Amino acid sequence: MYSAFQLAQKYLNYYSTAYNSKGHGVHSPFVFHFIKYIKNNNKKAECYKPIEDIRKLLLQNNSFIEVQDFGAGSSVIKTNSRQVKKIAASSLKHKKFAQLLYRIVEYYQPKTMVELGTSFGITSAYLASAHRTATLYTLEGSPAIAAIAKNNFQLLGLKNIQLLEGDFKNTFSTLLQGLPAVDFAFVDGNHKKQPTLEYFEQLLKKAHNETILIFDDIHWSAQMEEAWEIIKQHNSVTLSIDLFFIGIVFLRKDFKVKQHFSLRF
Ligand SMILES: C[S@@+](CC[C@H](N)C(=O)[O-])C[C@H]1O[C@@H](n2cnc3c(N)ncnc32)[C@H](O)[C@@H]1O
Repeated sequence: MYSAFQLAQKYLNYYSTAYNSKGHGVHSPFVFHFIKYIKNNNKKAECYKPIEDIRKLLLQNNSFIEVQDFGAGSSVIKTNSRQVKKIAASSLKHKKFAQLLYRIVEYYQPKTMVELGTSFGITSAYLASAHRTATLYTLEGSPAIAAIAKNNFQLLGLKNIQLLEGDFKNTFSTLLQGLPAVDFAFVDGNHKKQPTLEYFEQLLKKAHNETILIFDDIHWSAQMEEAWEIIKQHNSVTLSIDLFFIGIVFLRKDFKVKQHFSLRF
């Protein structure tokens, strides 16, 4: 993992080289459309407030739970007692990005979605709310964390989420075997190069022309930056968008020329 100083330098570099927030100079109509109608769309959906209310409660929750520590996803598991509010402060995707994911799902309407790394289910709730007739399969290894997520889904009345408990090593391939296709995936659990690339390869086997893959924390460490570079360069990837804290990948064959964009967000 990069130090806070290194990360700040990387962010400055990204910010100074990325297209401005309105996308001036972006010549791809698809990306321009993405910027205008999805990235910069300030519309507030009804579900935002109840989900954010739950995030606030988690951030105030002083209780301790026993969690399995997967490290950056390693299979060497140790159990730790951790405070709910500390996990909520460090693990959950910030609302700006979670709401962007909501808008991506609302716009493209993927039917089968996969999230690797549920935590307390805040981003899961956004994804599932964005398309109520879709199914979100979300994977979490820590039973105590999964229990809180399930409770949150109940509080929000979300019935289109299936939470699969266990190490990704077992749950992910079993899940994929049973799915005809994956339309959308958010990979946010195991921030290491090799596992990230393995998940990418596994997802590609179930992907199609319209599948959207989103990777979290692509600049978090040298390993994640290497993984992101390999993903961008992969033959199947025709368009990649770097928003610094997440990377979005499209596989559409109708994009004749492979393109990559860094966009300020
Ligand atoms: C960053 S959090 C997910 C945050 C969530 N996507 C959100 O935005 O609200 C990552 C979660 O993945 C889980 N995790 C990490 N490695 C795992 C593994 N190998 N198997 C199962 N779960 C794992 C952790 O327990 C943690 O709760």
